[in-house]
Amino acid sequence: MRKNKIIAIDGPAGSGKSTTAKLVAKRLGFTYLDTGALYRALTLLALRNRIDLEAEGELVNLLKNSEFQLQTHSDQSRIWINGEEATGAIRSPEVSRSVSIVARHPAVRREMVQLQRRLASQADVVVEGRDIGTVVFPDADLKIFLTASLDARAQRRLKELREKGIDIALDELKVDIQRRDQIDSQRETAPLKKADDAIEIDTTRLTIEQQVDRILQAFRAVVQKQDENPRIRPG
Ligand code: CDP
Repeated sequence: MRKNKIIAIDGPAGSGKSTTAKLVAKRLGFTYLDTGALYRALTLLALRNRIDLEAEGELVNLLKNSEFQLQTHSDQSRIWINGEEATGAIRSPEVSRSVSIVARHPAVRREMVQLQRRLASQADVVVEGRDIGTVVFPDADLKIFLTASLDARAQRRLKELREKGIDIALDELKVDIQRRDQIDSQRETAPLKKADDAIEIDTTRLTIEQQVDRILQAFRAVVQKQDENPRIRPG
């Protein structure tokens, strides 16, 4: 039986997953795992090495021969690729535009899922992504699916990028987000989809604190149920 607790948070771009997942992890003392950062890191490497984004085998080789290190301290999460910090570089508009192409390949995803399961096996974790509740951890203790209107999501992302000094027009951002959502939702392998047993939260009119509180409440209810009836524990 799996001993560690897993909270899965899925949803489209800009739905507030990262901020929410980080805060939930902090409140519970759990580790935070951003699976999108791993797809972004592989995409950055592929772009830097001028690898054709359709060359599935080459992408898998690149992934197998690379080392990713993730670290989260209070609200800041950082990533190193083969020892070099790439925290800012993986969020560039260029990577954002290409990542869904890389993430579409089944063999890339197979490798990523193994890596993610390894990374999440040691401690209690909050894992964030697109297919966490459906594919990576279908037995997660709690599954959350965050949504928000396209407008709200684009506005949030604009603010985030501006704070990082990246200037991009709102309309351009909307088109990018829509395109990425479309590829992510329509791919054959592990599409972005709410798991049947996930709790859906529309965050359009919620503050981050409200989102976090709802998830913590739901988690407390799950733990209480598991304590009352240990046989329903997954794993
Ligand atoms: O933060 P944002 O919502 O922009 O996206 P992200 O979580 O950094 O993920 C970037 C991209 O990686 C997504 O658009 C997906 O194409 C891909 N991804 C995925 O396919 N599966 C995951 N579990 C996580 C991300």
